[in-house]
Order: sequence, then structure tokens, then C-alpha cells
Amino acid sequence: MAGVACPLRPMFSRRTNWNLEPNRLSEALAQHRASGRPLLDLTVSNPTACGFAYAEAAILRSLANRESLVYRPDPRGLLSARSAVAAYYAERGVAVPLDSIVLTTGTSEAYSFILRLLCDPGDAILVPEPSYPLLGFLAGIEDVELVPYPLVYEDGWRMDFRALESAISPRSRAVVVIHPNNPTGHYVADRDADRLAALCARRELAILADEVFLDFALDGAPRASSASRGDTLTFTLSGLSKLAGLPQMKASWMVVSGPEPAKQRALDRLEVIADTFLSMNAPVQLALPTLLALRPEFERQLRARVCANLAELDQQLAGQSLCRRLKIEGGWYAVLQIGESTSDADLALRLLREKSVYVHPGHFYDFSAEGRLVISLIGSENEFAEGLRRLLSL
Ligand SMILES: Cc1ncc(COP(=O)(O)O)c(C=O)c1O
Repeated sequence: MAGVACPLRPMFSRRTNWNLEPNRLSEALAQHRASGRPLLDLTVSNPTACGFAYAEAAILRSLANRESLVYRPDPRGLLSARSAVAAYYAERGVAVPLDSIVLTTGTSEAYSFILRLLCDPGDAILVPEPSYPLLGFLAGIEDVELVPYPLVYEDGWRMDFRALESAISPRSRAVVVIHPNNPTGHYVADRDADRLAALCARRELAILADEVFLDFALDGAPRASSASRGDTLTFTLSGLSKLAGLPQMKASWMVVSGPEPAKQRALDRLEVIADTFLSMNAPVQLALPTLLALRPEFERQLRARVCANLAELDQQLAGQSLCRRLKIEGGWYAVLQIGESTSDADLALRLLREKSVYVHPGHFYDFSAEGRLVISLIGSENEFAEGLRRLLSL
């Protein structure tokens, strides 16, 4: 009816009703970049921008396979690619059947498939706090609620099982563990992994184990993968993004393990979800065996970089008493602690404005206390040392 006002229906879903206003730090960063002044970026975590030597010719050759000219869709991923993933686990002594592997375009897609498999709208997953900031978005776009369970620091990080158990509700569907966690750099201890599996089996929860940083232990010792778990339904995620330093390839996977019949039922349903998208492209799947085989050389360079930057960090920290770093066992990041009363947002802003140094404030990762800064350990050694000098001079 022309001329009759009708109430406006919102154009967009409530789940996308994010606050998209820039925060103080992102605004200052944009201004700094626009000014053209040099920036020392201590957050850099894109391995392809950190000066590592990649086997360029082999990488490019692997993408030019003639078989890419033919479309042979397989919802779980091409057998040749899944065999390479199974070989990766076999090197760790874990026998993973090929039909328990589902390839995905990035780890985020694997998270999304699993949330669709396990959760109805309003269901919840338990996630460590502090941890990877993208989890909130991944859950939100699937209408899943994130319920944090705290990690506690006492000369090293550990799970707080009492707090975890009290966070479980009838709507909980899974517990996420990040092994090692980003940004705390701690692995889930073997005894905690067993305790968690027993708890999840008892409460009928799945485990979602994000192992993208698994192979970057500072001491170089291999750590156990959840892919070997048979006692409770477990989804183990990993991919080329971190393991081979190739995030641009968008090649990841999940391994489903656990008791029958839950495991088979999960795989049958996942196959339908994957079949609905068939998102992973043939050239990268065909290249995956080669790209995965290039991993040890990247791993060697990355570990050398992290160790050198960590040694520099410790040397510079030794000359003062206001700032300390928290213990880490692996991964690509370090957490600095500067008292409990210093606002990390203010500090990050001052560092950017006064010293042209960019760091992440701890609240990006939901640290429960103030005064935490997160820095990446994979940036070039000169920039890292200079950035730190400026940080400590503030
Ligand atoms: C814990 C964790 N999981 C997953 C990812 C992303 O992996 P992908 O690039 O395979 O999506 C990241 C990226 O930083 C991460 O920190």
C-alpha cells in the first residue's frame, strides 16, 4: 500500500551485528601506516613475509600437475593428499586410517564443519582463555556460544579442571584445546590430556584439538598428537599454514578418532557437510604431498629464528626489572608481563605513537589480567632486537 509506513525489517542477521568501528589501536596503526613512517612490527606472524628461504622452484612445480586439468571430486579429499597426511602421523607413530581424514580449505573451515556437525544454534563449546582470537568469530557465525575455561599461570600454564568442569552445561558440545596454545605457547600435558579425555567421555563431549603449532617445540622434542586418541570422540586439526609455513595454500585437515559408533557417525555426517561445499581445490590437493615433504627445512629455519629471538629477548630483559616474559614451551609467540595495573591497551598505543613499535595488547587474547603484551618470535632478528630495545626504553 503506497504511503503506509511499515516497520523496517533489519537487512542483516543478528550474528553479523559486530561493532566494526576501529578501536584506538587499529586507528592509530592505520594513521601510522598512512604517514609512511617506518614501523617495527612485533606482531608479524605471516611466515612468507619473514625472510625464510622457501624451495620456490619445487613449490611452483608442485602446482603445475597435469592431473589438475581433470575434476575428480572426493568430499574427504583426494586419496593422494590424504595419504600424505596419514604419512605425517605415521612419522609420529600414529596410524591414521585414510577414511578418518577430511581435508579442508584452512583450519577455520575445519572448525566450521565441526561446529555444524556438533552444535545446534545456542549450543556451546568450551575454549581456553587466553587463546586464539578468531575462535569467537568462528563460533559466532555458526550461532554457537563460546564459554571460556581459564588457563592458570604458576611458573608455566596449566588447565584448571575445577573451573572447566563448572563451566560445562547441558548445552556444551565440545572442549577446544590448542596444543600448543596461541599465544601462551604451552602444550597440554599428557596427564591433562588423559584427564580431559576421561571428563569428555563421562560428560559426552567431543574434544577439538587444534595442533597447528604441534611441531614447533622449543626443545625440538616431538609431542603427542590427539590423533591417536581412541577413548573419546576427538577432532584433531592441522595444516600447511603453520607446519610448512604456507598459509596461502589454504590446505588443512582434520583427523577424526574415538570409539565406535560415534566416530563413524561423525565421519558420515562430515562427509555430507564437506560434499555440500567441495571447497578444496585440485591443484593444492595434488601439491600437498610435495608441500608437506618440504616441511623439515622450514621447521629448521623457524626454530632457529624463534630461538635467536628468544635469546635476544632474555638478554634484553636481564638488564631491567619492570618487564618479564612468561614461560613458553613452543609456538611462535611470547607473552610479556608489565605489572597488573598497567593498561595493556594504553601501553600498546603509546608504543605505537612514541616508538613506532606495534605489539598486541593482551586483551586481544582475553588475558584475565592487565599488563600483558603479546609479541611474535618469527620476525627478522634485527627488527625484533630494535623493536624490543624501544619497547623496554618506554
Ligand atoms: C591456534 C590457531 N589455529 C588455527 C590458525 C589458522 O590456521 P589456518 O591458516 O590453517 O586457517 C591459527 C592462525 O594463527 C592459529 O593461531
